[in-house]
Amino acid sequence: MSYPEDYQTLEGVEASIWRHLRRAVKDRRSPGHTPTVGTVGTDGEPRLRTVVFRGCEPEQRELMFHTDARSPKWANLKANNRIAMHFYFPKQKLQFRVQGTARLEHNTDATLAKWNSMNSSARDCYRVKTTPGSPIDEPRSRAEETAGEHDGYPAFARVHIQIQSIDWLYLAAIGHRRAQFTWGSDGTLNSHWVGP
Ligand SMILES: Cc1cc2nc3c(=O)[nH]c(=O)nc-3n(C[C@H](O)[C@H](O)[C@H](O)COP(=O)(O)O)c2cc1C
Repeated sequence: MSYPEDYQTLEGVEASIWRHLRRAVKDRRSPGHTPTVGTVGTDGEPRLRTVVFRGCEPEQRELMFHTDARSPKWANLKANNRIAMHFYFPKQKLQFRVQGTARLEHNTDATLAKWNSMNSSARDCYRVKTTPGSPIDEPRSRAEETAGEHDGYPAFARVHIQIQSIDWLYLAAIGHRRAQFTWGSDGTLNSHWVGP
């Protein structure tokens, strides 16, 4: 057994990370399509949740997902823009741990254009009347939650992650490999192998 060619150099690893991420945005069956996002709660406690991975811009080092601007995570990010994203690709035996800062996008020309391109079932997620995470007497159906004339657009928002670092781990019987990539504020990359 030998290592994939890409994993012989830090440049090869970095290029393969972006390839995996770009593919994960498009491929709904990829485990990378539903990463875990970490934020810091207003109580200082860690918070995790699954999201659908919606965008990857390697040039800008940005990742993106959609969310409800009424949700607790939005309030968390407004108070503290530190954010992390975790990916695990079981077949490829790869883990990516991304850290960075969140840029919150709400009510812009771009969110409106996106909203206008979404089908009604995607829009319904944002048309629910109950604020996400708020107590209710009993569970209600989607039809009940979205009944009536009201627009979901005010709740529709996007979170852009400006990546500051990626920790890459590849599991292999002949020896795990791990590397870290850190970008300075001017975009300069510092990369090195680390003990797995
Ligand atoms: C497969 C899956 C995909 C999800 N996708 C999203 C998503 O794209 N955006 C989102 O805000 N929540 C998504 N959720 C729900 C979140 O995991 C979470 O339960 C919800 O957003 C409330 O999180 P919060 O209380 O931290 O704000 C998804 C959950 C699952 C299981």
